[in-house]
Amino acid sequence: MVMIELFSVSEVPENSRKVIDVGGYTVLIIHTQGQFFAVDNKCPHMRLPLQKGKVSDDGAIVCPFHRSVFDLASGDVKEWAPWPPVVSKALGSLAREKALPVFQTEVRDGMLWISSEPKA
Ligand code: FES
Repeated sequence: MVMIELFSVSEVPENSRKVIDVGGYTVLIIHTQGQFFAVDNKCPHMRLPLQKGKVSDDGAIVCPFHRSVFDLASGDVKEWAPWPPVVSKALGSLAREKALPVFQTEVRDGMLWISSEPKA
């Protein structure tokens, strides 16, 4: 895994976010509570975009579609969507509980860097 230099931290002020393409992923960068987080912009539930998700005070993102909740630092599932209530075989495999891929972030000399791949 290598680190990739993205842009100046001033491009993502506190309480803002930005979506970028890195290494085949669409990555959502979030600056909140004094930290930068980088997560896959596709919700693991049904691959819909997370970029408009609400960030909670405890550092989690809530998917705007079916309300799954993921820890921004670890990607761990804090709550999984109750939707769809009656799961067909095809939807069941799509909707099985999975963690959100998260990327390592670093700030070096005012520049934001992220890992080229999600953390294991
Ligand atoms: S797509 Fe995110 S919870 Fe369903």
